[in-house]
Amino acid sequence: MEIFITGIGSGLGEALALEFLEAGENVYALSRHLPRSLEGFENLHFLSLNLFAHEKIGIAMEELLGDVELDLAILNAGVVGELKEMEETSLHEIEAIMDLNVWANKVILDRLKRRTVKQIVAISSGASVSGARGWNGYALSKAALNMLIRLYGEEMPHTHLTSLAPGIIDTPMLRYIMEHGDPHRFPVVQRLREAPKMTPRDGARLIIDTLPRLLEYPSGEYLDIRQLH
Ligand SMILES: NC(=O)c1ccc[n+]([C@@H]2O[C@H](COP(=O)([O-])OP(=O)(O)OC[C@H]3O[C@@H](n4cnc5c(N)ncnc54)[C@H](OP(=O)(O)O)[C@@H]3O)[C@@H](O)[C@H]2O)c1
Repeated sequence: MEIFITGIGSGLGEALALEFLEAGENVYALSRHLPRSLEGFENLHFLSLNLFAHEKIGIAMEELLGDVELDLAILNAGVVGELKEMEETSLHEIEAIMDLNVWANKVILDRLKRRTVKQIVAISSGASVSGARGWNGYALSKAALNMLIRLYGEEMPHTHLTSLAPGIIDTPMLRYIMEHGDPHRFPVVQRLREAPKMTPRDGARLIIDTLPRLLEYPSGEYLDIRQLH
């Protein structure tokens, strides 16, 4: 299989890349960092890119992918920001989160639309629909990502798209929320601390096992992996 992934520097993206590489699949990755765990794989094609640099994404994708026909693209890269109330969150902070979680993916999807891609999975979040207090720009960005995938789903009849909430996975992003979020102001912090969590490896395996089932749902849908198992 030929697989494109964004954000393999840590957490879920790193684990997904490792799973695919160990299975002998070809992985094409855009990310700022190449973690040590992924060094030395001949089937990894890596290009270092900060996805905030929207103007560089198109050229980077052409350089990385050439005329490869993709079986799968996983839009995983994301940022969360600080948990706080909407009123305390500046437009500048929200714009920064939107720039990565939504607009970088819009540019990537424009490029993918010109290529042969069988399946696209954008990593969303339960925060995109929960509206839990404190998620601010992150919730807005993941809700917009869900709609972005729905809109491209309408435009890409030969590609199956899903916006997928991956469940709760013990990654640097989750740890940041659990350590820095105020559990008294934001009950979601306590809920996350107490919730069972998957390791990144287990989270990656669950997503990979679930990929064929996603195809049973209409293209463009938002799905939560916890409701599929
Ligand atoms: N963990 C959870 O429980 C959970 C739940 C719901 C949704 N998610 C979603 O899962 C995805 C992965 O998050 P994670 O939990 O694995 O957190 P993470 O460890 O913080 O991973 C974030 C990933 O995004 C990449 N990234 C961040 N900024 C980037 C930039 N400017 N340019 C390119 N890549 C960038 C990072 O790679 P580099 O360091 O190489 O840039 C890293 O691989 C995110 O979309 C997140 O919203 C996670």
